[in-house]
Amino acid sequence: PQVTISDGSSRVSATLSTGETVEVLLFGATVLSWKDAAGNEKLWLSKDTKLDGSKGVRGGIPLVFPLFGPATPNHEATSKLPQHGLARTARWEFLGKSTSEGSSSSSSVKLDFGLSSDSLAEHTKALWPYKFGLLYSVTLDRESLTTTLVITNDGEEPFDCQMLLHTYFNIKDISAVQIAGLEDSKYVDKVDGAKTKTESSSQVTFSGEMDRVYTPAKGPGHPIVISDTGRPCFRIVRDNLDQVVVWNPWIEKAQGMSDFAPKDGYKNMVCVEAGSVDGWQKLDKGDAFEGAQTIYIL
Ligand code: BG6
Repeated sequence: PQVTISDGSSRVSATLSTGETVEVLLFGATVLSWKDAAGNEKLWLSKDTKLDGSKGVRGGIPLVFPLFGPATPNHEATSKLPQHGLARTARWEFLGKSTSEGSSSSSSVKLDFGLSSDSLAEHTKALWPYKFGLLYSVTLDRESLTTTLVITNDGEEPFDCQMLLHTYFNIKDISAVQIAGLEDSKYVDKVDGAKTKTESSSQVTFSGEMDRVYTPAKGPGHPIVISDTGRPCFRIVRDNLDQVVVWNPWIEKAQGMSDFAPKDGYKNMVCVEAGSVDGWQKLDKGDAFEGAQTIYIL
């Protein structure tokens, strides 16, 4: 595998000898692109996204930490943070690569990125004054992409956190997308007054704005499968991440987002986001929390 650093050292990309590629932006350690050997893009990325850390990337895989959603007054410790926290806009450090050559069918590359509270700008530190370390690994295999986040509490004070891998999948037609693996699962319906409901269908389909936080009934080991125009195309396997957010902004919300382009791009994206966002992970001094997803191309 080949690893290249480009764009004034703000992007890291890796290519397997068989042609698969992944590209990561150091702002947010955001995966911007993931292509199969034939060059087909697996992730959706807005044409008008910011890529300079002034805002989270609109597309790819932004990392949500330590807060999911907007700040709420009933959780004082995160009440100063912007929506989805501070990790998605901070500049991360590229820590290096590990490669495994093997036969062409088993070659893979792992890219490691780090962010620590010590390297944050002072105004960002002030928003959430805890000492933490984040290690994010992006592993490209021929048939899959694995993203793993390890959070450590490096300070004296305990802290509460949430994390989410906000993956934007590139799909052909949102009206023909089906998501399997969520049957019988409780979810919070954010487009219907945050009511708690239970999924009765074996396939979730889209005919309008959707913003749901599922806690899949079968647990993290049970895969979520995304099908597009009748064909299964992605299988997501989670590790230690109990929630799955399903989001599509549809027409009006897409219109309202200045960084969302083209405006009918909502037809070609669906966010299926593995995370730990129901309540808080409490980390005491020295504790770590690790969460991961592997996305298989079907
Ligand atoms: C999803 C949330 O994870 O992210 C939605 O459930 C939110 O409520 C969406 O609108 C996009 O968030 P942002 O901050 O990137 O515009």
